[in-house]
Amino acid sequence: MTTLFVNACMRGEDSRTLSLCREYLSTVDGEVTEINLAERDLKPFDAQMVADRSAKQKAGAWDDPLFDLARQFAAADHIVVGTPYWDLSFPATLKIYLEHVSVCDIAFRYTEDARCEGIVKARSLTYITTCGGFVEGMNFGYEYFCGIAKMFGIPETRFVAAEGLDVVGIDTEEQLARARAQIAKLG
Ligand SMILES: Cc1cc2nc3c(=O)[nH]c(=O)nc-3n(C[C@H](O)[C@H](O)[C@H](O)COP(=O)(O)O)c2cc1C
Repeated sequence: MTTLFVNACMRGEDSRTLSLCREYLSTVDGEVTEINLAERDLKPFDAQMVADRSAKQKAGAWDDPLFDLARQFAAADHIVVGTPYWDLSFPATLKIYLEHVSVCDIAFRYTEDARCEGIVKARSLTYITTCGGFVEGMNFGYEYFCGIAKMFGIPETRFVAAEGLDVVGIDTEEQLARARAQIAKLG
């Protein structure tokens, strides 16, 4: 089994989300490939980039490096997304990454009757986050990934969060331990 770890933990080694992800990843079987978004300088798509990509799609130039991230994502058996809870969702870099991954005829395609059909290999996506406060019904980042998973054809999504980590007086270690207990149940 191959796991693609999409690391959107922008604070690097100081990130509590990253430490939870590493604990989880140490339990998964097979090869883990990491893409560290904090170290990449991914550009959001502008008009020129959209035009270039469309031309390459039309030409069937699927080996072009422009499609590397999409092909990598589409080939993994399992996706792990590690991201802090920022502004009710996740850091903008993660959205930019999805712009690079969400490519027609690699991640999804349109059927003859105009239905969108997901075509990635992964059967599950695990989303790990930590929050300063509490998500409390505003889990927009994870919900967005549930939509993306559906579009790409990933049937199962799983969510783990350590919440309240910036709340004054809270027992941070206990909050992290609760998240670790959720991780232990993932299998
Ligand atoms: C730019 C930014 C935005 C944040 N937005 C929220 C938020 O909307 N809600 C919340 O509960 N915490 C928010 N936080 C706090 C983080 O979710 C919290 O500190 C988290 O544990 C950081 O994860 P990390 O240790 O992996 O970097 C924000 C922190 C930053 C730096």
